[in-house]
Amino acid sequence: MQTEHRIIIGNSQRMPELADSSVHLMVTSPPYPMIQMWDDQFSKMDTKIAELWKTLEADGREETVNQIYDAMHENLAQVWQETFRVLVDGGIACINIGDATRSVNGKFRLFPNHARIIERCERIGFTTLPYILWKKPTTKPKYKGKGAFLGSGFLPPNAYVTLDCEFILIFRKGNLRRFPRHDACRYESAFSKKQRDTWFSQIWTVTGARQTESQLERRIAAFPDEIVERLVRMFSVKGDIVLDPFLGSGTTTKVAMLNQRCSVGYEVDENLLPLIRSKIATKPHDEETVKIVKRSLS
Ligand SMILES: C[S@@+](CC[C@H](N)C(=O)[O-])C[C@H]1O[C@@H](n2cnc3c(N)ncnc32)[C@H](O)[C@@H]1O
Repeated sequence: MQTEHRIIIGNSQRMPELADSSVHLMVTSPPYPMIQMWDDQFSKMDTKIAELWKTLEADGREETVNQIYDAMHENLAQVWQETFRVLVDGGIACINIGDATRSVNGKFRLFPNHARIIERCERIGFTTLPYILWKKPTTKPKYKGKGAFLGSGFLPPNAYVTLDCEFILIFRKGNLRRFPRHDACRYESAFSKKQRDTWFSQIWTVTGARQTESQLERRIAAFPDEIVERLVRMFSVKGDIVLDPFLGSGTTTKVAMLNQRCSVGYEVDENLLPLIRSKIATKPHDEETVKIVKRSLS
């Protein structure tokens, strides 16, 4: 099957390249609010966030921390809103997100990103569906926000539960997708009983998938191909268009190609283009056309 893939270097808060109701599935993993590695990018994308960090340095108030957290989700919500516009009726959006724990001005707390995104997406008009918990290899338990239990970590009550799951939130726009009777693409996209039983269970343990990744992929927290492949096969049929508004290293484009889906990916950081190119070149592209467009950033 001939498929087409577009990579747009630009900000996905606006997606003028995509018509209303033209995309069948969105699979993505955004920058995670309140995870330190993404602070600079949020500040670069939104001067209000940069200003709020400066205010926090000066006032150290919990209220300012909450404003930063709100502003980060406000920033992401613009992408969820655009996604809602471009999805077809019955289209699905899958968002991989982790909660954050962080000490700000000496106070350790949880930032439940998954809950914020569910709230925002429901306000936009999405229907929330049961989500997946992606169980990651366990990191060390924390004591008073520090990296590990100390000796006194055996004594109650000041230790914290370790975050060892991320969420894959699943939303639908509108009604169930409709297909013509005996639609060939749909039947050709069927999964096996074993795949169904594994993929549609709530806890996924996907291990070892990150062993081959480069340092740069680690730095941008690329998700394993297997996570994307499951979602693409669960929620789209061959020939569909899959969108990733936070493309990173190009995992979604690669997986779409390997599974005979078309794709559109947005990435704001032009420096990732060589990585994207090399990732999607791992397969001979005799049946895919790839178009890379650089849009002026705004
Ligand atoms: C968590 S990474 C995605 C990693 C990706 N799933 C992968 O497998 O490589 C998030 C990416 O979104 C990009 N990004 C952040 N905000 C964006 C925006 N508004 N528009 C487009 N890309 C954005 C970042 O530059 C980063 O590469």
